[in-house]
Amino acid sequence: MWARDRILDVRGLRSYPRDGSLLDRAARWRDERGAVLPLETAAVDLQNGMRPAMATSRFVAFAAHRLWEQPSWRDRVAAEIAAGASDLASARFGPVVTAVAREVRRVSPFVPLLAARSRRAQEILGHRVAENDPVLLDVVGTLRDPQTWPEPRHFDPGRFLSGGPAIGGADALIPQGGGSVVAGHRCPGEDPVLGILSAGVVATTMLGEAGVPRPRIDERRLPARPPAVELHVGTLMRSAS
Ligand code: HEM
Repeated sequence: MWARDRILDVRGLRSYPRDGSLLDRAARWRDERGAVLPLETAAVDLQNGMRPAMATSRFVAFAAHRLWEQPSWRDRVAAEIAAGASDLASARFGPVVTAVAREVRRVSPFVPLLAARSRRAQEILGHRVAENDPVLLDVVGTLRDPQTWPEPRHFDPGRFLSGGPAIGGADALIPQGGGSVVAGHRCPGEDPVLGILSAGVVATTMLGEAGVPRPRIDERRLPARPPAVELHVGTLMRSAS
């Protein structure tokens, strides 16, 4: 409904989004015959374009929360920025920033579980599953499994730095689904998310405690949603370049 109204406003010349912005494009996109897309299709496309960035912004808010709680990691990120290994303007991120981003994805997954139905009778991790049985992937439980993650509730980006304990395979860190991108439904957006989140970690650190209000997070809410954290990244980019 929200997306449809935005498209209608643009098409009805009641609003004028910036040229080339997602809303501008979605409202004006044409199909292969040159016809303007049906309203419903344009609205879905608008949401498809927004959803991944909005989802990633939640991870950035979780990162701000963790760095508030453990300022020693903010100090390490700051040292990496000062040494030139992490740089917002050139989107270059060193090992500490990347490790913080990975650990944020581990400790703050906001997709709590994934549900599916088994296509065939099979055995999964020693359990018999009949065709069409519901199957749940416990995302939070997998990311807090003490067999893979020692002291799983502890925020420790050191796990992802070289010299940290080995991490158990592609199906250990699954905040965006498990299995294979090619053969299954694992999210293909993990690399963009890691990049945007790393930029958020750097921006949060550069702004410091004064520039980032402390996010309050209620983990009893599913999915846990952090309140919006406004980072003035545009200003940061200008001052960094
Ligand atoms: C915080 C950010 C994100 C989260 C938490 C997230 C999470 C997920 C999850 C849980 C799935 C389903 C996995 C499954 O069913 O096994 C998924 C699928 C998908 N994601 Fe993401 N995602 C994020 C960002 C992105 C981004 C940035 C992109 C694109 C650049 C993207 C594109 C997709 C697509 C196309 C699928 C469908 C894959 C398929 O069905 O084969 N996602 N995502």
